[in-house]
Amino acid sequence: MTHDPIEILSERVQVAMRAAFGDQLPSGADALIASSRNPKFGDFQSNAAMPLGKALGMPPREAAQKILSHLEVDDIAEPLDETSIAGPGFINFRLRDDALRELLGQIDTTDLGIERPASPRTIVVDLCGVNLAKQMHVGHLRATVIGDAIARVYERLGWNVVRQSHLGDWGLPIAMVTGAIKEKTTAGEISLDDLSLADLEREYRAAQQRSSADTRGLEVVRKFDLGPKAAAELEEQVAGAEEALAEAKSTLVALQSGDEATVATWRRISDITISECVHICDRLHSNVTAEHTAGESTYRSELGGVVSDLDERGIAVESDGALVVKLDESGIKEPLLVRKSDGGFLYATTDLAAVKRRVQDFGGDLLVYAVDSRQSLHFKQVFAAAKKAGYAKRPNGEDADLVHAAFGSVLGEDNRPFKTRSGENVALKSLLDEAVERADRAVREKNPDLTDEERAVVAAAVGVGAVKYADLSSDRVKDYVFSFDRMLAFEGNTGPYLQYALVRIRSIFRKAESDLGLSRDWLDGDGVNSLGEAEFELAEPAERALALQALGYEGVLHAVARSFEPHRLTTYLYELATTFSTFFEACPVLKAPDESSRNARLRLCRVTERVLESGLETLGIVALEKM
Ligand code: ARG
Repeated sequence: MTHDPIEILSERVQVAMRAAFGDQLPSGADALIASSRNPKFGDFQSNAAMPLGKALGMPPREAAQKILSHLEVDDIAEPLDETSIAGPGFINFRLRDDALRELLGQIDTTDLGIERPASPRTIVVDLCGVNLAKQMHVGHLRATVIGDAIARVYERLGWNVVRQSHLGDWGLPIAMVTGAIKEKTTAGEISLDDLSLADLEREYRAAQQRSSADTRGLEVVRKFDLGPKAAAELEEQVAGAEEALAEAKSTLVALQSGDEATVATWRRISDITISECVHICDRLHSNVTAEHTAGESTYRSELGGVVSDLDERGIAVESDGALVVKLDESGIKEPLLVRKSDGGFLYATTDLAAVKRRVQDFGGDLLVYAVDSRQSLHFKQVFAAAKKAGYAKRPNGEDADLVHAAFGSVLGEDNRPFKTRSGENVALKSLLDEAVERADRAVREKNPDLTDEERAVVAAAVGVGAVKYADLSSDRVKDYVFSFDRMLAFEGNTGPYLQYALVRIRSIFRKAESDLGLSRDWLDGDGVNSLGEAEFELAEPAERALALQALGYEGVLHAVARSFEPHRLTTYLYELATTFSTFFEACPVLKAPDESSRNARLRLCRVTERVLESGLETLGIVALEKM
């Protein structure tokens, strides 16, 4: 059972709507519960009657009246009567104080009263997805933190969660860099043991350059007869590129056939990439490990089978020598290419095999991909093709849900894609270093009493937390502008503000220990002779507002789980922190008028602390004691 008043009222209004309108009720009709803007009208309102009246050709107030006559909410809301209907047909609710106190008591536990499903379903989250021989750049920040936040929300709701980082570790470009490095190690120019990711990236770029032929330029030169010199230059370049490409192809064949030295080189490149990626994810406090990494190479033995299966069942058809899956019936004009005319497989072929593995081997009921929105068409095609082929079918015969949680780009302060001055992608590592450095300065200013050691811990948590929070609090599908100044501010909807709000609450408890002599056990306890016994009072509007806000946590987690939008959680937590701040100004806690109201308020602080702590943990942001 949920403890969120909005969810409880929502269910009750739905039941009443079904009873009132029966078969006439339009499918998907929602209870539309929202917080009341004006406390005069109670705590919540249902806006359901307006669209319902319209759909049924009935005055909305009459629709509201019909709902009201079937509504059973007396156990949690004040009795409803004619005056509960306001304006064009809002139904207003004011929660009963005793119900509010009881719900609040139920969420004052370490798991916040969130029930685990008896038979949990499985979600597979595709996140991170770095590529071999390349550093993590700012784009991977989003794929990592958004994916991890979605995974954490589902974990908190009791699902089985499988994380998959779809490492780009196969194909011609990878073979190219493998070949180049193998050549240099054989020649004794470099040693595999001493290679760093930066070295690999340099080799990658060099290899890429060698292979990029200006065939277009050559056409232009020929067409406009730009002279033998221009033609010769370009011809040489194109020939060089063709040679590089041919070499890469032979390296790929060597890799495929298990040539020892080639495979060893490739494996070393892969190890270096993965260990650096895991290290950065660890710094990010994002749960992505080597076990979560399933490279494209892990599908290579499955691709041939997938393609011949598609071919044999007529799901894929020939087109100009290539094999494609047509998707017109899903409203997608562009067919999905699964085998090139030269026989090679593609990114999409691997993703089809991945859907199959994730649904059929991992038991995924829901597959979510935290990937850049520029891959939208790719995922639309892959999802439609996977369903067409039956690869998304679960044991119960229904298709798993396949969702692309697409995200926008990170922009620089000039509103253009975030790049270094020389036009390269910004390495995530240097971004985090700078955030931590800046946080260190800010923390030094704010709290000069911290020891160097303490400050290092705080600065790392604040700097990295600020970067993550800025990302997660932005509307997922939109682009956002990366600004150190904004994200590191201690005021406003930022990571540091929320971390600080929690620190403030924790310092109340420390003061309760040191100044009032209350023991930690008593403060943390749930049973008799502990704070858990205190009766909530909620007499002050600020206390009531805080209680209502805290109770909304569970519903917000459900909303994030439905929408795959972590910013709903950040917005909620920010409101919780500001509501707490208002409460703390209006209602003295340790200096409350008497002991029972002091304990009641302390307990309200404890619930808020628990929600904030859980919220930050769900976002993957470190909760601090001091800062
Ligand atoms: N490596 C890919 C890239 O850099 C991202 C992988 C996304 N996941 C997937 N299943 N395709 O674009």
